[in-house]
Amino acid sequence: MLDQKVIDIVKSTVPALKEHGLDITKTFYGLMFKNNPEVKPLFSEDKQKSGEQAKALAMSILAAAQNIDNLEKIMPVVTKIGQVHVDSKVKPEHYPIVGKNLLLAIKEVLGDAATDEVLEAWGKAYEVIAEIFIDVEKKLYETA
Ligand code: HEM
Repeated sequence: MLDQKVIDIVKSTVPALKEHGLDITKTFYGLMFKNNPEVKPLFSEDKQKSGEQAKALAMSILAAAQNIDNLEKIMPVVTKIGQVHVDSKVKPEHYPIVGKNLLLAIKEVLGDAATDEVLEAWGKAYEVIAEIFIDVEKKLYETA
């Protein structure tokens, strides 16, 4: 489980990150496709163009982080997204790729406000959120 300090840091930075949601999304996708071109084929090109899905992904990570001390609340959403992931063939090994590039995007957008402490807290929170998705998707793959 995450300690209270990590929870407090993450929650205190969610509003700033949401405010820069579009910036984060764009930065995140740009970095991920440059650093990890191997995940590009998973994403539908049409959806990339509309930008809607891209925004949904980054923003839902922020929403999950906001509920980091009450993740039960987001389970219905996780199951819905998990089904989209399974249909898109997202696998556990893809999660660290999203996590790494999300942290880089947070650093780029928040600048000096993204201290080592902030980034470390976000890294820990993302790991917890990713575990939940991986677990839900494992069950969906098994029943598919
Ligand atoms: C905790 C981490 C993640 C969260 C919160 C998340 C969230 C989302 C959301 C909200 C959507 C839109 C669902 C809908 O259409 O209703 C989505 C779609 C999608 N996600 Fe994720 N995602 C995460 C991790 C990943 C990872 C690791 C990958 C693979 C690199 C990935 C690839 C996709 C793909 C391929 C789609 C379908 C949309 C498209 O084709 O562009 N996601 N995700």
